Amino acid sequence: MTIQRGKIRFLVRKAYGKAAKAAKPLKAGSCCSSASCCGGDSAPSVDGEMGLSCGNPVGFSAIKKGMTVMDLGSGAGKDVFIAAPLTGHKGRVIGVDMTAEMLKLSARNLEKFAKRTGLANIEFRKGVIEKLPAKDREADLIISNCVINLSPDKPAVFREAFRVLKPGGSIVVSDIVLNRKLPPSIKKHDGLYAACVAGALLRRDYLAAIKEAGFTGIKLLTDKTYSSSGACFDPITSKAAKALDGAASSITVSAHKPGERK
Ligand SMILES: C[S@@+](CC[C@H](N)C(=O)[O-])C[C@H]1O[C@@H](n2cnc3c(N)ncnc32)[C@H](O)[C@@H]1O
Repeated sequence: MTIQRGKIRFLVRKAYGKAAKAAKPLKAGSCCSSASCCGGDSAPSVDGEMGLSCGNPVGFSAIKKGMTVMDLGSGAGKDVFIAAPLTGHKGRVIGVDMTAEMLKLSARNLEKFAKRTGLANIEFRKGVIEKLPAKDREADLIISNCVINLSPDKPAVFREAFRVLKPGGSIVVSDIVLNRKLPPSIKKHDGLYAACVAGALLRRDYLAAIKEAGFTGIKLLTDKTYSSSGACFDPITSKAAKALDGAASSITVSAHKPGERK
């Protein structure tokens, strides 16, 4: 038994709404705060950093001036703020998130960022990543950091990313995948779902979903397995430590939409 799809939206919004209101890294129930990506290789501290990431997709993206970049599940805006100076004032960076409190926080962060940098190339949109609020072929690059594992329909996310990318465009995503099946007690644990563990796909299913969406040239760029000794378990998730040891990895994957870049 896993958690029902309808409930997933509710509990993910609740967990990240709470995190946004607290506006500091979560102690429990979020990515990077418990069993998943604690100690992960995220970028240095920047605007919008909340310790909710599990990689550094921008670092692997070779962003060029003038590009349009879209960040799926942009949270407080960390990767958007890293990408914006790289695209420059002729480019655009669009963050998409479904949680109202996160969008409020990213809007506040954007005000400070714009004042400091003079850049006006960022937009945050409200929406779900399974049905992106974006036109066909709007983006050159799609990034995402520790979000797709939270989706109740991962294949739909990759199909949407494919639709929104221009031919020749790329995705670079950091995320949590499983190396083995989890016991039912963990699969149905609400806190471990919001912590980016219980909802994660097996690695082969994750990579297959990218391929089935139409992407080619799928490359694994980083791959780090979590051990229970290196993770920061809160009192609830510590009970699951043994079952989780070595079960999850944070990976960064890139892939391309076939076609000529114009
Ligand atoms: C673990 S946080 C990561 C935030 C950001 N990418 C970072 O690295 O700081 C997950 C974010 O994804 C958003 N999110 C989760 N599922 C989503 C979905 N299906 N559609 C849109 N946003 C989603 C949450 O609201 C939250 O802001």
